[in-house]
Amino acid sequence: MKAVQITELTGPRTALRINDVPEPAPEHPTTPGEGVIVEVRAAGVSFPEVLQTRGEYQIKPEVPFTPGSEVGGIVRSAPENANVEAGDRVAAFCMQGGWAEVAVAPAFLTFALPDELDFAQGAALILNYHTAFFSLVTRGRLEQDETVLVHGAAGGVGTATLQIAKGLGAKTIAVVSTDEKERVARDAGADDVVRSDGPWKDQARELSGGGVDMVIDPVGGDRFTDSLRSLREGGRVVVVGFTGGSIPEVRVNRLLLANTEVIGAGWGNFVIPKRNLNQEIGDAIDRLIAAGFVSPVIGARFSFEQAADALELLDSRGATGKVVLEVS
Ligand SMILES: NC(=O)c1ccc[n+]([C@@H]2O[C@H](COP(=O)([O-])OP(=O)(O)OC[C@H]3O[C@@H](n4cnc5c(N)ncnc54)[C@H](OP(=O)(O)O)[C@@H]3O)[C@@H](O)[C@H]2O)c1
Repeated sequence: MKAVQITELTGPRTALRINDVPEPAPEHPTTPGEGVIVEVRAAGVSFPEVLQTRGEYQIKPEVPFTPGSEVGGIVRSAPENANVEAGDRVAAFCMQGGWAEVAVAPAFLTFALPDELDFAQGAALILNYHTAFFSLVTRGRLEQDETVLVHGAAGGVGTATLQIAKGLGAKTIAVVSTDEKERVARDAGADDVVRSDGPWKDQARELSGGGVDMVIDPVGGDRFTDSLRSLREGGRVVVVGFTGGSIPEVRVNRLLLANTEVIGAGWGNFVIPKRNLNQEIGDAIDRLIAAGFVSPVIGARFSFEQAADALELLDSRGATGKVVLEVS
């Protein structure tokens, strides 16, 4: 089968080759001896793959390897205890190996794809929407009518967070850097949009009537202290990622003085050993799809041959919503 592989750690433009590789066996490292084989129609592209082309991500397989953590496609075979069977349309989180014509995923991270969503949206569903739900609800303890400020709001995690927060009855304030991203954030349901290069902290305090209840932060970097300052008493900053480049440090006296919290949200490590929680999050997202709140935003579609362009779009801060590779 054809697969897009990282063959050298030289960055997005030069690291990739399309190679002929063997199809995967029906077993996954998290479920030895068992796995769902998926004929891939679309594969998600995410920030970790950009980092992997430079050897800068925490998971560093030996080259050559096939990246790609999630796919939308059709089940070719599934173990008996799976919730899906041959012929089903699915969203599947394979962790690695998704940029290929055939991928293998654990049954507990393979979900039937609702009719409302196409394969590209299936490839956009698990990483971002499960992370968004996990960050808002499991870790952030979101309550109805709370106000959530979302950094990087036009990105993959950002648009997912806006849609889920809205579906759960929260108000949202999106932080974005351009007019185009403001449009994307509004389309994803943001109640208010503020600019990352403007007085967003003061605007957020004003719009929320004295401070937001939660900040969802996939960006990190210099804006972290202002995120803390934008909170009301009892407010929480949920740490999701560091696309801004630097990992912020907190002077914890700020937390004491303002009675606020900083909460880490690492989706994979938390949920992978907890099959029931995975299912509960999947079910909750399905309800939000059926209710019309969740519909993944596909910002750009590329072929396997254009995979370097897809990575460069993310790397240059130009991506909106989810970027996908489609199998032609
Ligand atoms: N914790 C978890 O379990 C978990 C799960 C999934 C993803 N993540 C992490 O979450 C982060 C966001 O992922 P994503 O898929 O949403 O990425 P994305 O689609 O590229 O969006 C990231 C956003 O970050 C903002 N940004 C600010 N400075 C940037 C810079 N120097 N370069 C690029 N973007 C910059 C951009 O918004 P503006 O231009 O509007 O500022 C961009 O839209 C990544 O670090 C990813 O690894 C974490």
